[in-house]
Amino acid sequence: MAITIGTSARAEDRTAVEYAARIERVSKSFAGPAGQQLVLDDISLDVAPGEFVTLLGASGCGKSTLLNLVAGLDRPSSGAIATDGRPALMFQEHALFPWLTAGKNIELALRLRGVPKADRRDEAERLLELVRLGGAYGKRVHELSGGMRQRVAMARALAQDSRLLLMDEPFAALDAITRDVLHGELTRIWETANSGGPAAGGLSVLFVTHNVREAVRLAQRVVLLSSRPGRIAREWTVGMPQPRRIEDAAVAELSLEITEQLRGEIRRHGQH
Ligand SMILES: Nc1ncnc2c1ncn2[C@@H]1O[C@H](COP(=O)(O)OP(=O)(O)OP(=O)(O)O)[C@@H](O)[C@H]1O
Ligand SMILES: [Mg+2]
Repeated sequence: MAITIGTSARAEDRTAVEYAARIERVSKSFAGPAGQQLVLDDISLDVAPGEFVTLLGASGCGKSTLLNLVAGLDRPSSGAIATDGRPALMFQEHALFPWLTAGKNIELALRLRGVPKADRRDEAERLLELVRLGGAYGKRVHELSGGMRQRVAMARALAQDSRLLLMDEPFAALDAITRDVLHGELTRIWETANSGGPAAGGLSVLFVTHNVREAVRLAQRVVLLSSRPGRIAREWTVGMPQPRRIEDAAVAELSLEITEQLRGEIRRHGQH
């Protein structure tokens, strides 16, 4: 089955785009009781078109802050951020509208994107199929399990037809088996979106997690943030072919190496 993420023609500007997101020397401070608190310090990171990057770091290191800046929900204190179009967002909490059905939640995103009314139902059904929730169109949010809600949230994010998907621990609240299944689904959707070559549009993902195995399972590149302030501590290119499994020996081996480094960052942070 040929899967397209969106229906808009967007081939004309493909040659000009060298990045899905460009973070250039970004710092962010918040006003706190003890004066300005530097949360992110001089972060530079490019996400290439079609690339899957995970941002990994200890709790409180500034991952969500950075993702919110890339999403345009907040502004950096210094530095610059550019994205290839408006990114789509997906959070740990599904943030679906409980008074709408699964299908209508997706249609709302389609309406905001300017998809004509007559096309919305078919497109919503297609996106539900894509996340393997065909038949759930008329279901209300409270009738769906946690995993199903996150699938609808994923379909709604894909409905925005963005070239960049920003995900903030979207599977953290799910049980291990459901999470495993959704890792597979996300990988499949991302690979399929990029299988048509650059002219087909493509999909880049910037995925935040504090779960090392999850980061290695999903990404082509894992970027580790230090804490207080958040700086890029190290990054790893992950060469194993997809689909990977979280229990693969190669995934476990690299996760161990990254965990050691993460522990070091946490220890250093603890000494402050
Ligand atoms: N709007 C804000 N005002 C003040 N401080 C903030 C604000 N947003 C975040 N912070 C602070 O910035 C730091 C980083 O927070 P952030 O939520 O980005 O961490 P995180 O890496 O996403 O953590 P977690 O893994 O727990 O989600 C924290 O110390 C937090 O208190
Ligand atoms: Mg966070």
